[in-house]
Order: sequence, then C-alpha cells, then structure tokens
Amino acid sequence: AGEEKAFVIGFSQCTEGDAWRKAMHEEMEREASFYPELSLQIKDGKNSSVTQIKHIREFIDQGVDLLIVSPNEAEPITPVVEEAFSKGIPVIVVDRKTSSSMYTAYVGANNYQIGKLAGEYVAKLLNGKGRIIEVWGLRGSSPAIERHNSFVDAIAAYPDIEIVAEVSGEWEKEVAKERFPAVFNQQKDVDLIFAHNDVMALGAYESLQNRSVQQQLKFIGFDGLGGPNGGLQFVQDGILDATFLYPTGGEEIIQLAHDILHNKPFKKDNILNTTVIDDRNVHIMKQQSDKILAQEKNIERQQQKLYEQIQLFNNQRTLSYVLLAS
Ligand code: FRU
Repeated sequence: AGEEKAFVIGFSQCTEGDAWRKAMHEEMEREASFYPELSLQIKDGKNSSVTQIKHIREFIDQGVDLLIVSPNEAEPITPVVEEAFSKGIPVIVVDRKTSSSMYTAYVGANNYQIGKLAGEYVAKLLNGKGRIIEVWGLRGSSPAIERHNSFVDAIAAYPDIEIVAEVSGEWEKEVAKERFPAVFNQQKDVDLIFAHNDVMALGAYESLQNRSVQQQLKFIGFDGLGGPNGGLQFVQDGILDATFLYPTGGEEIIQLAHDILHNKPFKKDNILNTTVIDDRNVHIMKQQSDKILAQEKNIERQQQKLYEQIQLFNNQRTLSYVLLAS
C-alpha cells in the first residue's frame, strides 16, 4: 500500500475571538482528526480586513492545497480570494461571502432567509405595531447586509412597524454594550431590539442595567449557539424573546474540503438549515444541544485515549527492539 498524499488546508478566519467561531473550530478539528491526511492551519484575522488579506496572501505563497475563508468584509477581501482561485487553489467560502462568484464552494445558512423569518416573527410578536432599534453587525459583512435587507423587506408589509434608530455593534457584545445606551436614551417608546446576533442583543440588554426597562423591551438575536454562553441559554433565561439558528457548519466544511481534495463530487452551494427558537421550543433544543456537546466531549476523550495507547505501543516496541538488539 502506498502512502496517502498529505493535504494542507489553510483557513483564514475573520476572527477567533467569540464563542460561535470557537465552536466552529472545535467541530472542524474534531472532523479533521478522522482524516489523518488532512492538516488544518487556522489564522485569526482579529476583525481586520487588512490582516486577513495578508493571511490569505501568506497561504497562497505557502502553496496550500485548499483555502477556507470567512471574509471579514465582502468588498476588501474579494480580490485576494479571486487571486487564490485564479491560481488554481480550491476555495471554500464559509458563513460570510465575498462579492464574487469566483470560489469553489460555499457553506453557510441563507442570511436573507433568516432575516425574513425574523421580520415575520417580529411582526407577529408586535401585533403589527411597534418601534424597533436595530443593532448592526459589521456594515461591510454579508450577513449584516442580508439580515438587514430581508428584515426590512418583511416588515414593509406593516406600516405601523418602524426602525427608529440603528447602532453599529460590529458583531461584538462589548461594542454593542458601549454604544447602545446613547442611542436608546434619545428614543421614546421603544418596543423591540433587533440585533444581528445574540451576543450583541445581550450587550444591549446588559447596558440598560435597569431591570424594569429590560423587562419592558423585547430582544431578538441570531445564532442560537448551545452551551452556557450561547443564545439558547439566553432564550431559556428569558433575556431574548427569540433567536434564529445559524449553524457554524464546522463538520460540513471539513467534509466538503475532503471531497474536493479527493476529487469526489460536491455541491457548490451548501446551505445549512435554520429555525426559530423561542419559549415554545427552547427547552427541547437546549436538551438536545447539551447532549450533543456531551457526546462530542466523549469523542474527544476517546481520541485522547487512543492516542495514549498508540504512544504506549510505540514505546514498548522501541523498548523490545532495544532489548533484542542488546
Ligand atoms: C461570529 C458572528 C456570529 C454571526 C456571524 C456572522 O463571529 O458574529 O455571531 O452570526 O459571525 O458572520
């Protein structure tokens, strides 16, 4: 049997600093560990498009076998991704998009669809009438633009629903927390906070401090991440009224990379499922997600055990060679 070819996968991630992307990386690393021929290198762009362009160029120069990119902002990242693609490097775009069709495949949920779902949900929740503050993700990133556009399209059918102010939260809880109060204090009779992700919704919530003000307002977010610091918990705790599931897709991304590298058939657009999570289904969603997280921990423990056994075996084999030779 010949040695299998080894592949290097470079992943240019826009940021590594939040729980959602940490979950994505854990999934990717676990899935990649099933394919010993794949090695995954991740570079953290730290929310900077300039840094991310540099990282992608480094991956091109290094000659990676496949490039994965989650573009911080669509426009600035597009040319360097096109460059990689033109040089024959397969490119998988994940979650956030570029503004070009020059890529090999995409993995992520449909942000236009979930924004629309959110708009329709909010219209029902407000009984067709209300004043909204929108907390934006990074303005140049595709999910922010798509969630905004589709939400606006959905509420357009309700003339008494209005977005009265906007806050630039840049996807970060702390940024939203810092900027929200100044905008909020200039408004009267706000009913609902529509945040482009769960952590910014939480940031806005925490910035209010006053318990009764917090309770008068409704909060909507996206992601529905599991675990103690995720959106499922925020809905269960009554902080958020609803979140819209935005899967991280880590497993799917690595499977796709594997198929592309082994010249197997694959789909160009791999759209992940989404759903609304509110007090009607959060309990079961949380239970299932906790169970999956526990099983994932088990898989990691078993892999660690296996690794230890292999080490032990190799040591004993070395020892027996030494003994035989003496
Ligand atoms: C994580 C995140 C998510 C959001 C996604 C959009 O970095 O901000 O909360 O859904 O990125 O790209």
